[in-house]
Amino acid sequence: MALRLGDDAPNFTAETTEGHIDFHQWLGTGWGILFSHPADYTPVCTTELGAVARMRSEFDKRGVKCAAVSVDPLASHQGWVGDINETQRCTMNFPIIADPDRKVAQLYDMIHPNADATFTVRSVFVIGPDKKIKLTLTYPASTGRNFLEILRVIDSLQLTAKYKVATPANWEEGQDCIITPAVKDAEIPGLFPKGARHIKPYLRYTPQPNR
Ligand code: BEZ
Repeated sequence: MALRLGDDAPNFTAETTEGHIDFHQWLGTGWGILFSHPADYTPVCTTELGAVARMRSEFDKRGVKCAAVSVDPLASHQGWVGDINETQRCTMNFPIIADPDRKVAQLYDMIHPNADATFTVRSVFVIGPDKKIKLTLTYPASTGRNFLEILRVIDSLQLTAKYKVATPANWEEGQDCIITPAVKDAEIPGLFPKGARHIKPYLRYTPQPNR
């Protein structure tokens, strides 16, 4: 069955390019991203893994660990890492999970048979410190993902987990946030000392609270 927001992120053990992992133990107490790619030695996937490796410090800043998965075996992943490093100006710095028996792919519903019977689609799961699913994304094999967008969503998720705000369309770090509807006008001065702009009774903005 498909995983939905708020569901427990299934645990598993697996071989990876950085050794054997128990997924939940490996995640520890922070955030995580698990993303699938269709197959090793493929062009779009090569660029995606290189992009994430080059962005490692941005994920670290946010306390987010990254893991990729595909249904190819470990020896294939290990060989491919050399190509990723060579072609993408990076040094791979996060694990690629080997999933030749499709255990992880099935747990996370990453094979969409009407798209491809065998290979995983480009799924992304953002997992919170409570091991719950906070975001899911599914892209087709032909479209490489925008990992800056994934960082942007993580910024929003981490902010809205702490403050009674939501983030508007195309929001980026540093921009005004929306005060959640459950907050009463009378509570605003106490919760948002930087002030508020009232556009409509249900549309109230405040400067980003944690900056
Ligand atoms: C790729 O990563 O380039 C790719 C993989 C499967 C289908 C199409 C493209």
